[in-house]
Amino acid sequence: MIRVFKMPLEVAAFADSVRRQGKRLALVPTMGFLHDGHVSLMREGASRADMVAASIFVNPTQFGPNEDLSRYPRDMAGDLAKCERAGVSVVYAPEPAAVYPPGYQTYVDVTNASQGLCGAKRPGHFRGVATVVTKLLALFRPHVALFGEKDFQQLKVIEALNRDLDLGCDIVGMPIVREADGLAMSSRNAYLSADERKRALALSRGLLAAQALVRGGESEVEPLLAVIRRELQASDVREDYVEIVDAHTLRPISRIEPGVPSRALVAGFVGTTRLVDNMSV
Ligand code: PAF
Repeated sequence: MIRVFKMPLEVAAFADSVRRQGKRLALVPTMGFLHDGHVSLMREGASRADMVAASIFVNPTQFGPNEDLSRYPRDMAGDLAKCERAGVSVVYAPEPAAVYPPGYQTYVDVTNASQGLCGAKRPGHFRGVATVVTKLLALFRPHVALFGEKDFQQLKVIEALNRDLDLGCDIVGMPIVREADGLAMSSRNAYLSADERKRALALSRGLLAAQALVRGGESEVEPLLAVIRRELQASDVREDYVEIVDAHTLRPISRIEPGVPSRALVAGFVGTTRLVDNMSV
């Protein structure tokens, strides 16, 4: 039977007992409304540790004032069933006041990895992500924590805070899980109407077209950006950003160099829904 904790003290006692028993613990932090991408993280966690814990918390500090905090999709009963099926034994599902009690004043800023891309378009977003993830890693003290590569910049931010704050966790990035037609799985896909769902394919189609150009020998970045933008425009997806970056530093590049991993990242609005996707190129 899956255990659900609401308070940090319960998690701390649980984490102590896991450590005392000499067991390895995996943590999968989530905001709930789970899909197969989350399940892949949980199953990988189960293969790397003796126990898997998940958190389900729609973290208010990572939402901007005009973003979708109040309407973010939620389904606690469905999520708990999915967690149980994926081998999770403990879920931490706190209320916001348990994470940010009155008088709360400590935030984590990851300066470099939070620059540009989503960091530039969503001011304060990564401060909220870094703060909650640091709190979760400090509370659970997991041996391994798993995150999806769909939020590629977020993964870099978390790797940096884990390194810089000596948290000693093994941070694992897992490949994007896609629907059969290529759409990257995301809890926010639930917002899309049938027509928007079709138009949303422009993100993955553009990235695949860029990947195909590189495989065909293109090494200049401009034509890659152009082919992605063409797909967005053809489907009436409003670009938030399209960039090709060095996959380690996230700095924009102008040429793909052999042996240097690079990543194409895109964010766009389909109607009012903002979606992100990325692929290695
Ligand atoms: O990727 C997410 O779901 C969230 O940003 C995370 C990492 C759980 C922090 O709230």
